[in-house]
Amino acid sequence: MYIVVLGAAAGGGFPQWNTNSANCQRSRAGDPAARPQTQSSIAVSADGARWCLFNASPDLRQQIAENRQLHPRTGKRHSPIAAVVLTNGDVDHVAGLLNLRESQPLALYASGRVLRTLADNSIFNVLNPDFVARREFALDRPFAVTTRDGADIGLSVEAFAVPGKVALYLEDPGAGENFGTRAGDTVGLRIAERNSDTCFYYIPGCAAMTPALADRLRGAALVLFDGTLWTDDEMVAGGVGVKTGQRMGHISMSGPDGTMAAFAGLDVARRMFIHINNTNPVIVDDSPERAEVAAAGWEVARDGMEIEL
Ligand code: MLT
Ligand code: MN
Repeated sequence: MYIVVLGAAAGGGFPQWNTNSANCQRSRAGDPAARPQTQSSIAVSADGARWCLFNASPDLRQQIAENRQLHPRTGKRHSPIAAVVLTNGDVDHVAGLLNLRESQPLALYASGRVLRTLADNSIFNVLNPDFVARREFALDRPFAVTTRDGADIGLSVEAFAVPGKVALYLEDPGAGENFGTRAGDTVGLRIAERNSDTCFYYIPGCAAMTPALADRLRGAALVLFDGTLWTDDEMVAGGVGVKTGQRMGHISMSGPDGTMAAFAGLDVARRMFIHINNTNPVIVDDSPERAEVAAAGWEVARDGMEIEL
């Protein structure tokens, strides 16, 4: 199974258009330790020919241009992108669907709630319904990823609910402290090669480690996990926002309740942070925090990274 990190950064990317922090300034200045990163997404293939995107970031056009695996190969009209699977309805995960307009066969998998959000926003009709099959997945039920026309591309996906928050633009302020979030609004994914034990987990958004999630991940070969923030209040402390990580539905990397502590003892062979916010000091290669995650056995995803499982 082949995995390409299309985008390693959280919503807004790195540098973010309206952020003037020291790290964003370094990135804009071309500092090699602060390389730009696009918004989070991965592409996965069992055969190296047909690819499934996991989330469609607003940077998808650039990501396709920069990754040869996703270039057209045959005929006048072609794309190796056969399918897209969405983990939630966040802007950084769905806006890129608009890049996949035109009459190109595609299968689009998401939860019922996310599919309804897309259906409610008629701009997504640029994904011509005659060519794009929208398919609802159920939680905790592995499904084979197939092309629009039903051809098996060799991948099996299972979606499971993780703690999180409904997309920002769908928040219901009158619905109490969870803003109308329902179980399954944010999912983690187990992505497997069909008829094989080769699998990994993709969890770009997660608010907490639960005992059930820990049980699921124990002993995994590879987990790509929510790396949005280093500390819960870093956006507030950095003067670039008023929200904590918990308010946004993200666990932090550090601290006793953080991700690194939560993974200690889970025996996950390869642990990689993805969906890294531009405020997170780990996003630059030479920060002490970056050294700390490396010492704890964590890798940090980077645009263009290729992994073979
Ligand atoms: C998130 O990951 O929390 C969202 O992408 C935030 C947003 O919509 O900007
Ligand atoms: Mn996001």
